[in-house]
Amino acid sequence: MSDFWLAPLHGITVYTFRNCLFRHAHGIKTAVTPFFPIQEKTKLNVRKHADFRIENNLSDIEIIPQLIGSNPDHFVDTVNALNAEFGYTRFNWNVGCPMKQIVRKRRGCGLMPYPQMVDDVVNAVTSKTPFSLSVKMRIGLNSPSESIVLLDRLNAYPLDFVVIHPRLGVQQYDGLPDMKAFSECLNATRHKVIYSGDIQSVDDFIGLKKLFPQVWAWMLGRGILANPFLAEQIERAEAVLPLQPLSELKERFAAFYADLLDSMLAVCGEHRVMANMKELWHYFARFFSLSAGELQNLLRITDFKEFEDKTKQICEK
Ligand SMILES: Cc1cc2nc3c(=O)[nH]c(=O)nc-3n(C[C@H](O)[C@H](O)[C@H](O)COP(=O)(O)O)c2cc1C
Repeated sequence: MSDFWLAPLHGITVYTFRNCLFRHAHGIKTAVTPFFPIQEKTKLNVRKHADFRIENNLSDIEIIPQLIGSNPDHFVDTVNALNAEFGYTRFNWNVGCPMKQIVRKRRGCGLMPYPQMVDDVVNAVTSKTPFSLSVKMRIGLNSPSESIVLLDRLNAYPLDFVVIHPRLGVQQYDGLPDMKAFSECLNATRHKVIYSGDIQSVDDFIGLKKLFPQVWAWMLGRGILANPFLAEQIERAEAVLPLQPLSELKERFAAFYADLLDSMLAVCGEHRVMANMKELWHYFARFFSLSAGELQNLLRITDFKEFEDKTKQICEK
């Protein structure tokens, strides 16, 4: 059986979303959180970061905090603080974020052309702390040759695993994943590899698993937003069980959606919830096969009650 992880999606796969997903759908056993910036000891206040709090997360799903930044000492300070406050012992480092303001500061994917900077952080964390570190990266910022150089450096360290999204940073999320470059990454690393990118359906997964049987685990991101039942559908397909009828999945989606709205409203005001929900509806629209026009009509609504009624109607249709 394959192992499915929830991908980090900044501002989306936060604990409210994760908990609802895990309450209403099966198949995911581990989640990497969206990124949190590292900071030096004197400025750290990890308690205020609700996403990492133990009481905010379901106990049966493993949560791995993801950190972003490039200063080795601040990285060590941050993992120590997160361990002391919450007990986390596994951490993931974001070396893949392609946002321009992050890349410009040589963070996220902006680090990929600078293997020595990556080396310095990994060296500090693996030599100065007892914790497990993993790296989430792309195939490069500007060129796939960057990942090969980086993976070769990382082979010198005892990493937990590496997650690879097979696009360049300059591509953002455009164009197709580069499977040739991903295959070269698999050959270049001695670490366990998690694949992340464009698994939208059971068939996408089956095709990828055939191509890359040596992949250790699979991350689901936008695909599981568009279909919360994707991991369990893949599991059923792997076990040669029939898929659940769409009518039943729609009923389960309605329950998931009602729970998600309530959970978000419990911690945020209506305005914020509507903005976050609108972002999610870009993905949910696929589950309900909404046309571009129907989605636009939803996104144009400004009154929360109207938005809530309209979206619930779609779910219950
Ligand atoms: C809106 C959005 C936010 C993302 N935020 C993060 C993040 O915080 N950390 C990270 O490592 N990757 C982040 N990613 C990348 C995803 O984790 C994933 O690697 C990428 O979307 C490809 O996988 P998918 O096609 O399954 O979504 C983000 C992607 C999107 C679209």
